[in-house]
Amino acid sequence: GVRISPPMNENPTTEHDPIAPHGGVLVDRTTPEGEREARLRDAEKLPALTLHTREISDLELIAVGAFSPLRGFMGRADYESVVARGRLADGLPWTIPVTLSATTDEAAKMAEGSDVALTHPDGFVMGLLHLREKFAWDREREADHVYRTRDRAHPAVAYMFGEMGDVLLGGDVTLLRATPPAFPAHARTPAQTRALFRERGWKRIVAFQTRNPVHRAHEYIQKCALEICDGLLLHPIVGFTKDDDIPAPVRMRCYEVLLENYYPADRVVLSTLPAAMRYGGPKEAIFHALVRKNYGCTHFIVGRDHAGVGTYYGTYDAQKMFDAYEPAELGITPLRFDNTFFCRRCGGMASLKTCSHPPTEHATLSGTKVRELLRAGQAPPPEFSRLEVANVLIDAMRAS
Ligand code: ADX
Repeated sequence: GVRISPPMNENPTTEHDPIAPHGGVLVDRTTPEGEREARLRDAEKLPALTLHTREISDLELIAVGAFSPLRGFMGRADYESVVARGRLADGLPWTIPVTLSATTDEAAKMAEGSDVALTHPDGFVMGLLHLREKFAWDREREADHVYRTRDRAHPAVAYMFGEMGDVLLGGDVTLLRATPPAFPAHARTPAQTRALFRERGWKRIVAFQTRNPVHRAHEYIQKCALEICDGLLLHPIVGFTKDDDIPAPVRMRCYEVLLENYYPADRVVLSTLPAAMRYGGPKEAIFHALVRKNYGCTHFIVGRDHAGVGTYYGTYDAQKMFDAYEPAELGITPLRFDNTFFCRRCGGMASLKTCSHPPTEHATLSGTKVRELLRAGQAPPPEFSRLEVANVLIDAMRAS
C-alpha cells in the first residue's frame, strides 16, 4: 500500500547499497537513548508478558531491521498467508512465522489497541508490543505447512506444542532495552554490516549461515563462493540451538583460529546472528536468505540439507525451495552447492559434480564418528577438519 507518512526512525541510508532491504526499507524499532528511561518507567504500569528465548531473539532482530519489512510480531493476515503460501499478506516472500504467544488467561488481561510490556525472564522490561490483534492459531496446520512434520521430536514442533500459548499477539514492537551481545567483538546490526561493506567497497557479498563447527566442506564452499564475490560474511547463528549442537562460544573460537590461519582478513567479516534456529529446512533456508539480504548481502550459500535436522527434509529440498519464487522477488541470489568432500585421488575438496572417482576415494565422516574421535581426544583427519579447529573442539570436549 501507499505509505502516507514514513515512520520517523526508519533507516534512510541504504539507497546506495548493493542490495535494498527486503520490502525496501530497513526497519528500526529501537529507542533513542534520551527517551529510554521515561518509556521504561511508563512500561511498569502496563500488563506484562514474559518472553521465551526465541521471542527475545525475534524482538531484538525485528528492532534492528534483520526481519525487515516486519515491524513486529505477525498479525492474523500475515501469519495465515505465511503458513499457507510462503508470503506475507501483501505477497512479499516470507516463509517462517514470527509470532508471539500468550496463554488464554494472559491474553484476557490485554486489550487490542493498547500496549503490553515485554519482559525478560530475569524480570526487566525489554520492550513494548503495540497490540493490534489477538487471534487463535492451529499448531498442526503450521507444523504441516512450515515444518512438514507433526513429530514432536522436531525442535520447532516441540516448541509450538510445549512452550507456546493458545493465543497469538500481533502488533508492532518497540525495543527499549536489549540483552548484552554474547560476542561483543562480532555483534553487528544490519545497518552496521551494510556500513562495513560500503567502507570496503564490496558490491557482491556472499553470506554463509551456520550452526555447526566449521569443517573443510564449509571452508571449501565458502571459498568457492568468495572466488566469484568481493567479500564473505560468515554469519553463525548464536541464538537458540538444540542441546546436542556444539555451543556458540566453541564454534566462534573455531572460526577465530580458522580465520587467523587460512583466510585473508580483508575479504571476510565474521559476525554473529543472534537468531533462534528453527530447524525448518527448506522454509528456513528462504528465511535465512532474506535475513542476510537485510544485512546487505547479495548472495547466499545453500548447501546440503540446509537448516535440516534428522531425516525430515531431502538433501536438496532447501535448494529446490528457491525455485518456488521469482529471483527478483527474493533479490538475494542463492549459490547452490552439492554435498562436498575431500577426494584422495583429486587431492582436494570436490563434489559429485566435479569428481570422477569412486566413493572409496572420498574421505567422509559421520557427525557421530567425529564426536567419538573428539571425545577420545583424537583429531579427525586433516581431510575433514583443520588441525587448529580440531584442537579447539578437543579442548572443549575435555572441559565439558
Ligand atoms: S545449518 O543448519 O546451518 O544449515 P551447517 O552449519 O552444518 O547447518 O551448514 C551450514 C551451510 O553449509 C548450509 O548451507 C549447509 O547446507 C552447508 N553444508 C554443510 N555441510 C556441507 C557439505 N558437506 N557439503 C555441502 N554443503 C554443506
